[in-house]
Amino acid sequence: MRYGVIGTGWIAKSFIDGARDVCGSEFAAVYSRTAESGNRFAAENKIEKVYTNINEFARGDFEAVYIASPNRLHYEQSKLMLQSGKHVICEKPITVEPEELEELQALADEKGLVYVEAIMYMFNPARDLLKEALSKIGKITSAHFDFSQLSSKYPAYQRGELPNIFNPALATGCLMDLGIYCVYPALDLFGLPEKITACAHFMESGADGSGTAGLLYPDKLITFTYSKLGQDRLGSQIFGDEGTIKIESISKLINMGITAKNGDIQEIIGDVPKEKLMGYEALGFERFIADPSDEYYQVTRQRTLQVSQIMKKIRDICGIRFG
Ligand SMILES: NC(=O)c1ccc[n+]([C@@H]2O[C@H](COP(=O)([O-])OP(=O)(O)OC[C@H]3O[C@@H](n4cnc5c(N)ncnc54)[C@H](OP(=O)(O)O)[C@@H]3O)[C@@H](O)[C@H]2O)c1
Repeated sequence: MRYGVIGTGWIAKSFIDGARDVCGSEFAAVYSRTAESGNRFAAENKIEKVYTNINEFARGDFEAVYIASPNRLHYEQSKLMLQSGKHVICEKPITVEPEELEELQALADEKGLVYVEAIMYMFNPARDLLKEALSKIGKITSAHFDFSQLSSKYPAYQRGELPNIFNPALATGCLMDLGIYCVYPALDLFGLPEKITACAHFMESGADGSGTAGLLYPDKLITFTYSKLGQDRLGSQIFGDEGTIKIESISKLINMGITAKNGDIQEIIGDVPKEKLMGYEALGFERFIADPSDEYYQVTRQRTLQVSQIMKKIRDICGIRFG
């Protein structure tokens, strides 16, 4: 598969490295707002063509686009790429509003194109291992997922700068950046909740710096915490009456294990490099392009829409607004 790339941050490099490694994908072009940044990224990643005009990029010689721009731009850029006949894999969160996602899913169908969110969880082989492990810990009545990662941009914010990730005008903040990684496994493992509670801590910029949410089911309660202002050291856990599943990273599903009621520990999976996990995203995306009737494409699309809808509800409860 030949890709064009939108965005020149570190995550775009991880996706390129992973897709080349896992799928042998080709990267033909990059779009950047500036020739300087585009040329630097192209040289670092051995990409031939640099565009600084997005309409010209949309007519480029590649079949698929990977989008890694700030969240606020995902909708309009994805729409332009789909209208231009490109398959799209867009970074999380795929759109800001669930209605935008539905509109673009319909557009992709109309054009016979594949449109997916670049979310490690849905393409990670460890997702199946986790599902299998659930059956070994008895009756599950609660789980706690945490994704708290001290932002590398926080010192700049403290110096009075406004990095994109703390700028509500770009539809960023903690829920959109990290909370989403808690919502995916909750919905995928346990389905839609009956009730949601949530609250957020706001920074002076108006961005949510940290937050918490609770998903209530008839037989269980799933809680989340997420923060960009502090670092988690404990991980996530799923509690059953026969044992506990511990997950070091809820986004990557790495270093997972079961501790049985009697204290015995059984490893589920160890470490996996992030580039590999991003390569699996590319693998799934390319599989869907090769066979759009693949049942898992429908599962993925539906889950992505559910996640977007629940994220919107959490935002409404917390009062998270984007400028
Ligand atoms: N999957 C993951 O693990 C993961 C990790 C990190 C981020 N992400 C996602 O990837 C996306 C990008 O995140 P990021 O942290 O890389 O974002 P970022 O650094 O703020 O921006 C990414 C790129 O977009 C362009 N850009 C920056 N500000 C812009 C603006 N105001 N208007 C238009 N273009 C702008 C820049 O490229 P040019 O200057 O070259 O145009 C920049 O390199 C987000 O959706 C985020 O959620 C995913």
